[in-house]
Amino acid sequence: MITINKITIAIDGFSSCGKSTLAKALAKKLNYVFIDSGAMYRGISLYCIENKISVDKEINEEVLIQHLPDIEIHFELNTENQSPELFLNGENVENKIRKIEVASIVSKVASIKEVRQKLVVLQQKMGELGGIVMDGRDIGSVVFPNAELKLFVTADPETRAQRRFLELQSKNENVTLEEISFNLEERDRIDSTRKESPLRQANDAILLDNSNLNQEQQLELVYTMIKEKIREISLLSNH
Ligand code: CDP
Repeated sequence: MITINKITIAIDGFSSCGKSTLAKALAKKLNYVFIDSGAMYRGISLYCIENKISVDKEINEEVLIQHLPDIEIHFELNTENQSPELFLNGENVENKIRKIEVASIVSKVASIKEVRQKLVVLQQKMGELGGIVMDGRDIGSVVFPNAELKLFVTADPETRAQRRFLELQSKNENVTLEEISFNLEERDRIDSTRKESPLRQANDAILLDNSNLNQEQQLELVYTMIKEKIREISLLSNH
């Protein structure tokens, strides 16, 4: 009897709908690796701000493409909270990348083909061995099209803005609910309409609207789906 050990789980969806929270909790419960692919796009955006490649929210695309080989991005596990943190050219930038200044340019940066090519290669390497939960916008459609479980997460816009507002407030970020709503709306628009790997629900992805679910309910629901999926695959491979 063959038993399937570790599968690949792809979680995509709109901005601030709790994808990373879900992915992190699942990875912990399953003892899988968790990768927040959005952090990588945020890392490149921070590089643009710090190196004046982005001024007044305008990105100098040509210069950014020239700089791409000099941008090194990786994750390291924070041993205190067991959470992966993003390193940009050797510096831990986990806090810096969550700021609204970064959020306000990240979707433009993420629409650049060369940026996506660089990051998708890194993401695919991270998932080579399976046993990974990765969240983003194109994980089920482009990064891991063969993922055994694909989810497309959404929630109503007010709920998403309110959740991000509380999250940033707890980090003492000076930002209003209106600024956040505007940023989420703007990112969803750019992410869904861009030419390169637009945000789309993959044909075989399960739609999950978590507007009325708390984190525990959502985790239990998806954990049940995963167990069922693993059982299904094991049954199939024993026939
Ligand atoms: O956490 P939140 O939903 O606010 O966003 P994120 O996952 O940190 O992603 C930030 C931005 O990166 C998104 O708005 C997309 O523009 C881009 N992104 C992408 O294009 N592809 C991915 N796989 C992940 C993020």
